[in-house]
Amino acid sequence: MMLLDQQYLFAPGPTPIPDRVKVAMNQAMIAHRGQEFPRLLEDVSTRLMPIFGSENPVTVLTGSGTSALEAAAANVINDGDEVVVIVAGAFGDRFAAICETFGATVNRLNIEWGKACQPEQLEEYLQSLQKDVKAVFATYCETSTAVLQPIKELGEVVKRVTDALYIVDGVSCIGAVPVDMKAWNIDILVSGSQKALMLPPGIAFVATNDVARSVMKHSKAKRFYLDLNRYLTSYETDKSTPFTPAVSLIFGAQEVCNMIEEEGFEQVIKRHEILKEMTREGLKAIGLPLLTTDEDASPTVTAVKTVAEPAKQIKKVLKDKFAITVGGGQKKLKGEIFRIGHMGYCTPFDIIKVLGSIEMSLKCIEGKDVVGKAVKRAEEVWMEYV
Ligand SMILES: Cc1ncc(COP(=O)(O)O)c(C=O)c1O
Repeated sequence: MMLLDQQYLFAPGPTPIPDRVKVAMNQAMIAHRGQEFPRLLEDVSTRLMPIFGSENPVTVLTGSGTSALEAAAANVINDGDEVVVIVAGAFGDRFAAICETFGATVNRLNIEWGKACQPEQLEEYLQSLQKDVKAVFATYCETSTAVLQPIKELGEVVKRVTDALYIVDGVSCIGAVPVDMKAWNIDILVSGSQKALMLPPGIAFVATNDVARSVMKHSKAKRFYLDLNRYLTSYETDKSTPFTPAVSLIFGAQEVCNMIEEEGFEQVIKRHEILKEMTREGLKAIGLPLLTTDEDASPTVTAVKTVAEPAKQIKKVLKDKFAITVGGGQKKLKGEIFRIGHMGYCTPFDIIKVLGSIEMSLKCIEGKDVVGKAVKRAEEVWMEYV
């Protein structure tokens, strides 16, 4: 019944690409050492500044989100440095593993998966450590649990209690949520292209303040491709990159900036709040338990517990019968949850689509008659904003 060329992507990344962005990426190739590229790079790097809440132009890397995580760690960590990583899910865990790889002594503040780290927990942990901590790493949206961490409040603790750098992974939310690096005490903020920024996978972003830039400059740690000093020098000298960049994706990023500016970044943030509320209220209306509380929930992704039937089954039915792709659980949440991504190129109509398909899938799987209920509730929520 479905058309093969109409597949609906609700994974928490990669996310759908707007046609405008596809067209922009199809522009004729330009030489990255030619005349046009510096204008393109400067345009994108500066127009990303408000989206990253950065006072400096944003550095563009060619690589997936993890390359930006690695760059953040590799450029500040020296052998034996003490770092703290807030581990509240699979991506906090990845940050910790990266820091270990670069020789840090990693102190993990483990948070129950599905919960946010409370500022008091961080404060207590930092005080009990009694170590000279070089950096504190946090994940803004922990995609594996669909929790939005209180980055502002945690940053306030980091700066009050330590002299550490505060390094934040914003891969699955930057472009959809507010952030202010200066006011929130963030020194390095990283993100990827394939989530709220509506691009294909392939480029990543690193926003750094002057403190981080100075630390990076004096760091003796070994790095080459991801040496951020090289990127900053190339940018300062001639608005270029040290190595061949993914030019087409940077054309795409320029169009994304156009789209976000046309809608208005404040409105983009509000739209994601509405998408979250519609999704959560709709799922509650059909009795599907959510992994997170309303307070901790991310506006970009929602995690649904699968108590009654295995996640695999609903994921498979959604795909086979309704051409809908959602995400499964990762690591210890494998088989325990499924995740609906609602970030980037996503509107309330898309939420109606995914909720309607979930209702029908439940009917297929267990004969549960919930048809229309989640959609009705989501529409009621939407109507409050129309
Ligand atoms: C919060 C977070 N950090 C890091 C990554 C890793 O990004 P990538 O898969 O692009 O390397 C992801 C990807 O899902 C993520 O959601």
